[in-house]
Amino acid sequence: MLPQELIREKRDGNPLAAADIKTFIQGIADDRISDAQIGAFTMAVFLNGMSREEVVALTTATRDSGHVMQWDSLNLPGPVVDKHSTGGVGDLVSLVLGPWVAACGAFVPMISGRGLGHTGGTLDKLESIPGYDPYPAPERFSDVVKSTGVAIIGQTGNLAPADKRIYGVRDVTATVESIPLITASILGKKLASGLDALVMDVKVGSGAFMPTTEKSHELAKSIATVATQAGTPTTALLTDMSQPLAPCAGNAVEIVETLELLRGERPNSRVMQVTRELAVEMLMAGKLAKSREDALSQLEKALTSGAAAEVFARMVRELGGPGDFMERSDSYLAKANVVKPVYAEQSGNVLRIDTRAVGMSVVELGGGRLRNDASIDHSVGFSAIAELGAQVDNQQPLAFVHARSDEAADRAAAQLRAAITIGTGEATIDSLLQETYR
Ligand code: URA
Repeated sequence: MLPQELIREKRDGNPLAAADIKTFIQGIADDRISDAQIGAFTMAVFLNGMSREEVVALTTATRDSGHVMQWDSLNLPGPVVDKHSTGGVGDLVSLVLGPWVAACGAFVPMISGRGLGHTGGTLDKLESIPGYDPYPAPERFSDVVKSTGVAIIGQTGNLAPADKRIYGVRDVTATVESIPLITASILGKKLASGLDALVMDVKVGSGAFMPTTEKSHELAKSIATVATQAGTPTTALLTDMSQPLAPCAGNAVEIVETLELLRGERPNSRVMQVTRELAVEMLMAGKLAKSREDALSQLEKALTSGAAAEVFARMVRELGGPGDFMERSDSYLAKANVVKPVYAEQSGNVLRIDTRAVGMSVVELGGGRLRNDASIDHSVGFSAIAELGAQVDNQQPLAFVHARSDEAADRAAAQLRAAITIGTGEATIDSLLQETYR
């Protein structure tokens, strides 16, 4: 079918055949389809939606538009599994989860992204580690996955190239907020890494990518069913992002927190509860655990024995970071010129956090990007951020700000105060794990 005919069919609300979707998406990867046609197509999908079958076809066509990784020839002695998140603030889950499940026998080829809008990016955090190379050659990537169990790297040129063009056009044609398009975009990229199973962490709350709770549920359900129908068994958890997940936001500060968590500190913190639930799903989906209890017991052993921390250390070393990073992280991580407490203007309880605003404040401090090609300052951010329900006063700060200068620190402090509502009532604390879609 000619591209203009396919666009006309979708414009008029008619269903599209999988073969026609495949031809259209391949035409995007081959540059035979113009940006104008992509824009018209995405707007037609935005307005008229897609059936589940159409989204599966769009997802598999996006996945197959470039290189799809194969792991069979490596004869790995365990399943290839991964996790993806819709992103958030203080969301350092991937950094702990990858090494943790690898220490239990899984193989995790994790393709991660940079910060996007108010959300932090796993790659930016890893680049706080001097020498860490997030773009190794493909053979090196496979070698590290095989020898270490996990490698967290950035997206390479030829994974789902159609999505790169489609996303660029969506960004400037007001067609980002479409569940079928988001589903195919996220999964098209993720499934190209040749996984046996995937776990998805869809966030809900004031720092979530989706604007409402209903939309977060809709996306989680769509991702779990579409990925599974596309041949990769997938579970989607809906988790709370109505406050920063870990009590810190930034790059080096989140690496510091990651190392402490991997050493077994604060095993029941909010971020570890979410990480553990995702890890359980990965071990069960990869058939490494017979039951939830079995998975929990393996995870406990991997953490308390130091095995998970050792896997992280090995991954850092194999990807170019210092061999003694775990022991001497303090001497390697950048430190901000100014670190000081931020006090609330009044004493009381933390009642509400505008998590998105906290993330944007980190971006303004220099810890994220306002433009794609900008460089970032790994040293800045917030640490020890007060949780919902915490009491704050002139002794107990809202957080510590890490900044380049006093002026930047004061600006960020004012933004943090504006983002956190203090009062005398009780905070409403949403449950951390809100739903599981299979
Ligand atoms: N992230 C993606 O990769 N794609 C989308 O469409 C939205 C978020």
